[in-house]
Amino acid sequence: MSATLMRTAPVLRAAARASGAVKPMAMASTSFVRGKATLPDLSYDYGALEPHISGKIMELHHKKHHQTYVTGLNSALETIGEAESKGDFTKAASVAPLLNFHGGGHLNHSLFWENLAPASRDGGGEPSGSLKKAIGEDFGSFDTLRKQMNTALAGIQGSGWAWLVKDKQSGTLGVVTRANQDPVTGNFVPLLGIDAWEHAYYLQYENRKAEYFEAIWNVVNWKTVASRFDKS
Ligand SMILES: [Fe+2]
Repeated sequence: MSATLMRTAPVLRAAARASGAVKPMAMASTSFVRGKATLPDLSYDYGALEPHISGKIMELHHKKHHQTYVTGLNSALETIGEAESKGDFTKAASVAPLLNFHGGGHLNHSLFWENLAPASRDGGGEPSGSLKKAIGEDFGSFDTLRKQMNTALAGIQGSGWAWLVKDKQSGTLGVVTRANQDPVTGNFVPLLGIDAWEHAYYLQYENRKAEYFEAIWNVVNWKTVASRFDKS
């Protein structure tokens, strides 16, 4: 395996584990299972997050934008597989940026959908239990966390994401941003991601992205965030 593939493969395995969105296909050999990314289903209707996020945005975001990352990821993996089979590691390495972009896009969105829930169900409010305690210790208060996330989101130039993360070594929480579709990797476990790409809000909020960053807290699924926190 090339150095590039050695670096990217763990990201994809993490994506598969985190999202459950990569399904095993035919067994290529007794020691290697080739996987193909698929678009995960949502656990709520497209219109269920209204009025905070419109059904039209959710439908386009999921069906079109996320699907593009899934298709791009599978295409990149196929190209890498073919290059590897020919021993053409230069070709394989040249696909690394596409693998990062589409693989990251698939992972980020798979986590994002699970981060959301209708306000009438599990969406909104504040976290409880061990996550609430950790937020209090590391941010001072839930409101401070919200403000830090929104400041981080507002500071993203171009496209990207803000994430509430847990540092695996120290166990502490923090807020980080990632440009484009760069995934959260390394020591950080992504707990809550907010998509700051224009495709996530423009149809409804146009250039008033600060309104979108305020509104999305009404549909954050804290049960999912708490579950990721407790398991990490
Ligand atoms: Fe997005």
